[in-house]
Amino acid sequence: MCGVVGYTGRKQAVDFLLYGLETLEYRGYDSAGVAVLSAGQNLHLVKVAGRVAALRERVEAANLVGTTGIGHTRWATHGAPTDRNAHPHTSCDGRIAVVHNGIIENYEALRRQLMEQGHTFKSDTDTEVVAHLIEDAWAGPAKGDLAAAVRNACDRLEGAWALAVTCADVPGQLVVTRNGSPLVVASCEDGAYAASDVMPLAKVSSSCIQLDDHDIATLHQDGSIEIEDRDGRPVEHPKTLEVDWDASAATLGGYSDFMAKEIAEQPEAIRRLLKDRLGEHGVYLDELDMSGEELAVIDRIYIVACGTSYHVSLIARELFQDWAKVPVICEYASELNYKEPLVTEHTLCVIITQSGETADTLTAARRMRALGCKVFAITNVLGSSAARESDGTMYIQAGPEVCVASTKAYTAQMVASALLGLRIAAARGEMDAAEVGRHFASLEQVPALMEEVISRRWQDKQAAAVFRNARSSLFLGRGVNSTTAYEGALKLKEISYLHAEAYPAGEMKHGPIALLEPGFPVVAIVPADHVHDKTVSNIEESIARGATVVAVATDGDERVAKLCEHTLWIPTCPEEWIVPLVAIVHLQLLARYVARSRGCDVDKPRNLAKSVTVE
Ligand code: G6P
Repeated sequence: MCGVVGYTGRKQAVDFLLYGLETLEYRGYDSAGVAVLSAGQNLHLVKVAGRVAALRERVEAANLVGTTGIGHTRWATHGAPTDRNAHPHTSCDGRIAVVHNGIIENYEALRRQLMEQGHTFKSDTDTEVVAHLIEDAWAGPAKGDLAAAVRNACDRLEGAWALAVTCADVPGQLVVTRNGSPLVVASCEDGAYAASDVMPLAKVSSSCIQLDDHDIATLHQDGSIEIEDRDGRPVEHPKTLEVDWDASAATLGGYSDFMAKEIAEQPEAIRRLLKDRLGEHGVYLDELDMSGEELAVIDRIYIVACGTSYHVSLIARELFQDWAKVPVICEYASELNYKEPLVTEHTLCVIITQSGETADTLTAARRMRALGCKVFAITNVLGSSAARESDGTMYIQAGPEVCVASTKAYTAQMVASALLGLRIAAARGEMDAAEVGRHFASLEQVPALMEEVISRRWQDKQAAAVFRNARSSLFLGRGVNSTTAYEGALKLKEISYLHAEAYPAGEMKHGPIALLEPGFPVVAIVPADHVHDKTVSNIEESIARGATVVAVATDGDERVAKLCEHTLWIPTCPEEWIVPLVAIVHLQLLARYVARSRGCDVDKPRNLAKSVTVE
């Protein structure tokens, strides 16, 4: 969590710092701050509790002038989101400033030691110890060498960090380093840049450098960057990454919010993902880097993920088991990390993570690899840790997803999982080329089906009225669409703060039915499938208890339309497993309309962050 930026060069630092923080705001947005080094070699700080927009106002009013600076947007871990706890944090003499993403686990012991030595602390954060440690090293063993001082301080840290450090005594220089938290740098003609991910850098460079854990990079005003490893040896050939994301992809482009934009981008994202994936030998998935023989002997598949990506895993399980006839275990990464997984040398682990930086998912992947599993990542963010640390990576190519609540990554990850399922099933001899082609053709219909749902968004707008005075709601679905219910409920609660519980429809009578009372909103996913009539019975049971039912139903289903208060219509889908990709678009739209009607910020819901880089 938290976004970090840095710049030193010929331009005014605040321009990139504020732009970078706006681009990274999805990583956390409870407070923000910048430190800029002025020509008079003084550090000027502006810090505010609140959004980057509030910081921009304060920075512009303060007229910060200087060509070297660092910035931060925060998702609080240690210390409340106040002006005082906002980053940057400074040394006692105020000449060293630090921004940090991650957690310093041993900060309490360090803070005690530093206070005993006479350091004075100004915040409740874990980060502030770093500024004081650097101050000590700068005056002592590092003797005025900022990179050495940062290395010396980091040697005493436990936990995870991406740090950017500036010092008033070395103008035109900035030192950055990482361990476990992401950080990239770019060397340009007008200066050197650093950021938590490639998005802010897409505007200034077509390639950037990925730092390895414990690398220390010194950024110079002429744009050059020196990188050393943790032992101080120069890193001659750092990993570079082509940045092919269009910087404008991270702007609203005429939409009122990123959620609306990203919902609308789903058909195009899926077209892009399917392009050139089918050939005469079946689905191309060279990224998997496993031979047909290796795929044939897979004895089980673990799918590990968090949040919305975990919901993708539930659908993937149904497809993998059905098509490839291989047992699949889905695990929340945060749960798997405290269990003993049953793995053999023939076990495949698939991690699904939009950001590629979710700490729990990365920990799980490392553990599974250490146990001898091959780990395959399905991710969106180029060069993310998940991509770097896995045996193979499939990029979903959905483009930057800015809204904290995931939409286009959910459906694109589902399509990527289907492609993986088809590839494994074919390799295991469980599916012939004709069947692979038939399923692929079904996937190719998805973009048009989604476009049809998006054109019917007025239905979602009308149905949103049902939730106006509600305090809670229930989402029901069966089979693959029990997952649609989970994801629909998650979207609603994430962005509208309205409680939503999801249940497999048939399980309703074992508990949730007790919640029902007149006017209680129930959302039922009841497409034309082999369990349709069973779900209709559950709708009847809900209505008998006074519930107001909003149904997601297939065109022409008059029986459901007559029963329910509102029907969100989906066009006929070519196969039952395609429905979750289409039906969820209604539930994304519904959640957005409900949230807007309740005055919520749909892109930046309270307490959440897009990328959870702490365990
Ligand atoms: C956070 C986000 C969710 C996301 C989850 C997993 O909770 O708010 O939208 O689904 O993390 O993120 P990942 O990047 O691993 O898919």
